[in-house]
Amino acid sequence: MPSDVPSTEAIKYAGSKLKLLSHILSLSKKVNAATVFDGFSGSTRVSQAYAKKGYRVYANDIAVYSKFFNTAFLLNKQGSETYQPIIDHLNSLAPIDGWFTEYYGGDENSADQKFPWQKKNTRRLDAIRDEIDRLNLDEVTKAVAITSLILALDQVDSTLGHYVSYLNEWSPRSYKDLKLTVPNLWVNQQDNLVMNYDIFEALNHLGDEIDIAYFDPPYGSNNEKMPPSRVRYASYYHIWTTICLNDRPEVFGKARRRADTSDTIAGSVFEEFRRGSSGRFMVIEAIEKLIREIRARYIILSYSSGGRATAEELNEVLNTYGEIIEIEKIDYKKNVMAGMKWTNDWIKDTAEKNFEFLFLVKKKT
Ligand SMILES: C[S@@+](CC[C@H](N)C(=O)[O-])C[C@H]1O[C@@H](n2cnc3c(N)ncnc32)[C@H](O)[C@@H]1O
Repeated sequence: MPSDVPSTEAIKYAGSKLKLLSHILSLSKKVNAATVFDGFSGSTRVSQAYAKKGYRVYANDIAVYSKFFNTAFLLNKQGSETYQPIIDHLNSLAPIDGWFTEYYGGDENSADQKFPWQKKNTRRLDAIRDEIDRLNLDEVTKAVAITSLILALDQVDSTLGHYVSYLNEWSPRSYKDLKLTVPNLWVNQQDNLVMNYDIFEALNHLGDEIDIAYFDPPYGSNNEKMPPSRVRYASYYHIWTTICLNDRPEVFGKARRRADTSDTIAGSVFEEFRRGSSGRFMVIEAIEKLIREIRARYIILSYSSGGRATAEELNEVLNTYGEIIEIEKIDYKKNVMAGMKWTNDWIKDTAEKNFEFLFLVKKKT
């Protein structure tokens, strides 16, 4: 990765744009921008990179864990050493058998149990999570502690990177001991803003100050035979939600997912695979609404060639509400830029798999 890309820190996250940071930043440099809105911040990699580059960042995601990560990274104004004593304290706690161990802790010596962590580590999780609540911390310190806990758990998991099914056998890293470290924080000079709304609600909280809106919604699968989008963020990462909220929810199924992440309840319109009453895919309708309603001078939109939104429809939406200034096509697997196109030619490339597109769009006024 080129050295002008700041280092960022995050959990393993489907659709993380870690590999695209240099492209996103270089597109952003082409326009004179000070304030950036990251509407679907997810792992917070993009928000972190923008903030470290000195942009004022408004970060939003519907997922509560994203809010905690963003609060820790973007709102912190203290040197990271400030947090060392609390992290040391949390590491020193005696393990206990609690709610997390009951549902998510497996026996190290049992081969046929499917759990995301070994018991020795969920017992530490139980002790640490309760202590974080007991300490009555201010918002940023609490977010730093929880981010540290989640990053540490992500290092000792026995999963394929999501929490809807667990591995048959313990992963090598699950044998390691859970150990919290202070996240790679920096002193933010800007007054960043963190939001935890559905994107359309978030738009109501923005003024006219946004120079660039970066949108990376969760595009559904475009395979007609496949059930609704495979990546459903609320389900995939239900455990991080539960750790943030510490609300001991009702759980169901083999993966012990939160009841509020069942397929009939959860889901985002951006994860919708059906067509709406107009005959168009609902996700395209949602993207159209988003592009139409956002008040920003420029939009950078991520789109992957496996997405539900068809290229033609997307092209039409972008041209209706804006002017496409530049398109970058990136071979996702190889992380090479396959070429830039300024015309509608990009559409025919979407038949190929594994391409990521970034559109820089000037919003029509
Ligand atoms: C492709 S991921 C974003 C990845 C992010 N750019 C990164 O680098 O980690 C899509 C994100 O959209 C969020 N999301 C889904 N529906 C949403 C909605 N209606 N409003 C806001 N965020 C939503 C999900 O929680 C998920 O984190």
